[in-house]
Amino acid sequence: MADATKRLPTNIAGNFFVDATCINCDTCRQLAPKSFVENGEYSSVYRQPESEAERYQAYQALLACPVGSIGALVPEKAIMRAATESFPMLIEHHVYYNGFNSEKSFGANSYFIRHPGGNWLVDAPRYMKKLVDAFERFGGIAYIFLTHEDDIGDAPRYAKHFGAKRIIHRADADAQPDAEWIVDGLDTVETSPDFRIIPVPGHTDGSMALLYRNRYLFTGDHMAWDREINGLRLATVYVWKESALRRSAERLLEYPFEWVLPGHGDRVHLPADRMKGELRLLLARRAAKKSLYAP
Ligand code: SF4
Ligand SMILES: [Fe+2]
Repeated sequence: MADATKRLPTNIAGNFFVDATCINCDTCRQLAPKSFVENGEYSSVYRQPESEAERYQAYQALLACPVGSIGALVPEKAIMRAATESFPMLIEHHVYYNGFNSEKSFGANSYFIRHPGGNWLVDAPRYMKKLVDAFERFGGIAYIFLTHEDDIGDAPRYAKHFGAKRIIHRADADAQPDAEWIVDGLDTVETSPDFRIIPVPGHTDGSMALLYRNRYLFTGDHMAWDREINGLRLATVYVWKESALRRSAERLLEYPFEWVLPGHGDRVHLPADRMKGELRLLLARRAAKKSLYAP
């Protein structure tokens, strides 16, 4: 629970606030951009939510915050309950954002795919009864795809509860040495006509992307949408090897996709040809700047 005595002075006066325990993971800014903004090393409330829809989004942010840094001085129980029920949140078709981001993965987003051949969890949220019940209603979890070593969250607990196979790359497997499925090398693995595992080393040695139905690309921390430049960006601060990162991004030109669903950063939906154009622009920017910190 957020602590009003630690309320950051950067918050505007009013009901919602961020306290000094914020780890600046960006989750609240993605879920409620009309209320939360980055302010130095933290988030803060720059505008109090007014309409019911805005308050609902602010409560979703409060619930998804991995460290409980968001508070409401006078909680509205009915909206909070509705916000709780909104997770897992449908993105499109059978793809969901789970909410309840985990501090263990520095607040990374995790996702869920309902599929007749067995459901997939992509990275892992906090282990919570609310989510366990929802996943059970959806038919359980067959696979837990771990994009890389940072975003494991509570994957072992979900794997144990559901008897799911955890998938991780050999190069990142120290983070999950008892994973049931270890991927080797750089070859794409087609697990079924709907799913392709694409190794994308760069952010970490063992980073992988998951392409679902040639439409949804789950990218972990390899690539995300950047609202500042209104374009795609690659991992910036934490980079295992820049040359590998660029090669991995080039490789994604081979595949059609319309969604980028990252661990950290904004997700985006664009027509496949526009997405390819954005990817080319990203590669050109990165090559021209020759800087690790270029987007
Ligand atoms: S979700 Fe929580 S930890 Fe993340 S930026 Fe917002 S207030 Fe900070
Ligand atoms: Fe990461």
